[in-house]
Amino acid sequence: MSSMIGIPREIGADEKRVATVPEVVSRLVGLGFRVAVQSGAGENANFSDESYAAAGAELMPDAAALWGAADIVFKVRPPEATEVPLLREGATLVCFLWPAQNPELLRQLADRKATVLAMDCVPRISRAQKLDALSSMANIAGYRAVIEAAHRFGRFFTGQVTAAGKVPPAKVFVIGAGVAGLAAIGAAVGLGAVVRANDTRPEVADQVKSMGAEFVPVNLTEDGSGTGGYAREMSDAFLQAQRETFMRQAKEVDIIITTALIPGKTAPRLITEDMVKSMRAGSVIVDLAAEQGGNCELTVPGQAVTRHGVTIIGYRDLPSRLSRQSSSLYATNLFRLAEELCRAKDGVAVIDMDDEVIRATTVAKGGAITWPPPPRAQPAPVAAIARPAAHAMPAKPVPGAGSTSASMAAMFFLGALLFGLIGSYAPPVFLGHFTVFVLSCFVGYMVVWNVKPALHTPLMSVTNAISSIIAIGAMLQVAPPFAGTGGRPDGLILGLSIAAVSLASINMFGGYAVTQRMLDMFRK
Ligand code: NAI
Repeated sequence: MSSMIGIPREIGADEKRVATVPEVVSRLVGLGFRVAVQSGAGENANFSDESYAAAGAELMPDAAALWGAADIVFKVRPPEATEVPLLREGATLVCFLWPAQNPELLRQLADRKATVLAMDCVPRISRAQKLDALSSMANIAGYRAVIEAAHRFGRFFTGQVTAAGKVPPAKVFVIGAGVAGLAAIGAAVGLGAVVRANDTRPEVADQVKSMGAEFVPVNLTEDGSGTGGYAREMSDAFLQAQRETFMRQAKEVDIIITTALIPGKTAPRLITEDMVKSMRAGSVIVDLAAEQGGNCELTVPGQAVTRHGVTIIGYRDLPSRLSRQSSSLYATNLFRLAEELCRAKDGVAVIDMDDEVIRATTVAKGGAITWPPPPRAQPAPVAAIARPAAHAMPAKPVPGAGSTSASMAAMFFLGALLFGLIGSYAPPVFLGHFTVFVLSCFVGYMVVWNVKPALHTPLMSVTNAISSIIAIGAMLQVAPPFAGTGGRPDGLILGLSIAAVSLASINMFGGYAVTQRMLDMFRK
């Protein structure tokens, strides 16, 4: 029997999002699920009951009927105290839950023998990107932060020269260039502002520049990269140097958007009252870290306040302020999760605890609390490869480096000796070919092996290089200046060579086509 997915109306204050949208309802039905939607659930995101019904959902008159009918409940916010008893015993709940901050709620849900999947616990690995609701929401929050700033700021963002006078472009400073910060940079650049940004993770500098902003470094090198792509807490000396940099920026810029967060910690205090005082009257600060205590000393979570002539916005519901967009993206994230849970497309959700993504996301299973998940083995950070030289850490002496150069010299000496010996005894024709072979090995080594391993896949350098060598060799065999064979190779060699050229061509042209498609993904 297929399961019923229930979508209740969100009851949290100021929450306008809904956990699914009509377009996604039909896709969930395609997976074999039945879908029930509480009447009015999509109202605040501009989705009517009729549009849900037309997409194949069953409408439920009230919350009690909806929660009572649902085998699986899809929600946005963690359930309120009044909602927990409505969840059927043994049912599954999927929503943002923040188990570290809400241990009591998790225990109450476990007492109801619930299976709970927390969307904030989806691991941030490539395979799970399509389920990554934190990123979808952070993207919207970053965009909306700029719109809120523009709404409060009394000037254009873009510079203009008009008959009535010259207007300089607004200067925007973004602190923390993660998902939300980069979205804010994109939106501010799009509106025509001059944008600068700072982050403690050095690899971010290139991303900031690629979005059209300037990276503002701090005069003290310290790598802020923590685990899983997140930041770590910085030393006091670094924070002091960072404050000096931010003080200079505060005097120059019109808008500051702060997004700096460290997982599991209160947000670092980066904008002091003195910095706010130093800003021009009419300036705006948008603090996206308000929920975690705020990056600005004067932020009032959930409110917009004016201090020293500067408007400080600490709204906690930025994604909800674009409710139609955020509901659509969140609904798609949930649909992708449903796909993972129901690979057989038979409307039955299977919680596979051997699957790394499902294991990390499942915080309670059948009444047993399964959070936190076992720690994940961390692969070497790819981003470190792209670290710009300006931010590189001072090189430490590598133990044994001297002996490596000595063994290299010994290898070269041996190689030269071997080459000399072969040259003295081998026929002259062989020596010519052998020289080309040795040189090509050396050039191939320098070209291919100096490419960082993380780039081997996108460039397909190794396989393409090998295929090219095969193709050239095989082409020489197809039409060689053969001495003693009447200029023609024998049938077997000809057949094998043609096969080699065809197979190598598939790899070469296919490889270039894939590389082109990957490059196109980064072009606008
Ligand atoms: P976040 O919301 O935890 O932090 C926001 C930003 O604040 C980060 O860039 C962090 O480096 C920065 N920050 C922290 N302390 C700071 C300080 N004192 N000064 C200045 N900046 C400071 O991070 P978010 O946006 O959720 O993601 C961070 C990174 O995680 C991404 O850039 C990416 O590398 C990785 N990620 C990976 C995903 C995947 O592979 N599926 C998905 C999303 C993110």
